Amino acid sequence: MSFTVNPISPVLGVKISGLDLAKPMGDNLVAEIRQTWLDAGGLAIFPEQSLTTEQHIAFSRQFGPLFGAPGNTPLQETVSRYLHPDHPEIYRVSNRMENGEPKGRAGAGTYWHSDVAFKAQPAAASILYAIEIPACGGDTLFCNMTAAYEALSDTMKEMLAPLRAVHDFAQTAANQFARPVVIESDLKGDNRTVHPVVRTHAQTGAKSLFVNPGTTVGLDGFTPGESAALLGQLFSHATKPDFCVRHTYTQGDVVMWDNRTLMHYAVNDYGDQPRYMGRTTEIGEVPE
Ligand code: SIN
Repeated sequence: MSFTVNPISPVLGVKISGLDLAKPMGDNLVAEIRQTWLDAGGLAIFPEQSLTTEQHIAFSRQFGPLFGAPGNTPLQETVSRYLHPDHPEIYRVSNRMENGEPKGRAGAGTYWHSDVAFKAQPAAASILYAIEIPACGGDTLFCNMTAAYEALSDTMKEMLAPLRAVHDFAQTAANQFARPVVIESDLKGDNRTVHPVVRTHAQTGAKSLFVNPGTTVGLDGFTPGESAALLGQLFSHATKPDFCVRHTYTQGDVVMWDNRTLMHYAVNDYGDQPRYMGRTTEIGEVPE
């Protein structure tokens, strides 16, 4: 099976056409897709897919172990009510209700973040399948934290090299309480950890900033004021349009992003128009 690759922007991302992700793939094809995705900075869009839940999971697990798969760590104890009832590998992001219950987490990820950064082993790839999309709106923004790191001065890179940042899901919850889409039981569990501010990608060796406004609550050894100033500077630098792309969905898109090198932001501008996405999430390495 061959495929066509078209860049979606100079800074990040490719569209990979000509593949049917529902079909079994050999190891060589999976390796080629992975390399194409890594070369594109960790963002690939596979258009015009038609997947069952099982096929979405089967495609995803070829790229690594999935949160929620039998025997693996659950995605997060607190999101259990948003998981697919029969397939805990699938985290559902949706504003739809079904039998009086949310079909998925409404307003999920409506702030810059990297998935599961508050765990000791955060996510590597996330693979989102666009099942139902609004007539307009509901885009996802991505920013390239490798490009952002590389654009820093050598002096700043030296200063950041030994630093560690504290990540906490409570920060994510605080971002969402205003709406509110996070309830108190969402805060259960062990969702706080410390990671290096600059991480080295396990496959490419590239260095990236690994802090995000969604979960990073401070820098180890700094006062709250010092942390806020330095993190604020890094966040505004990293989210400059020069390092970002915006994806507008067509139903059937599968989007695969690398949480080790990207932040993303789900734009919550579609009101009551239904939006329903299923996401698998790969368990990554301990960041180094
Ligand atoms: C997420 O995984 O953060 C949600 C992304 C989206 O719904 O656009």
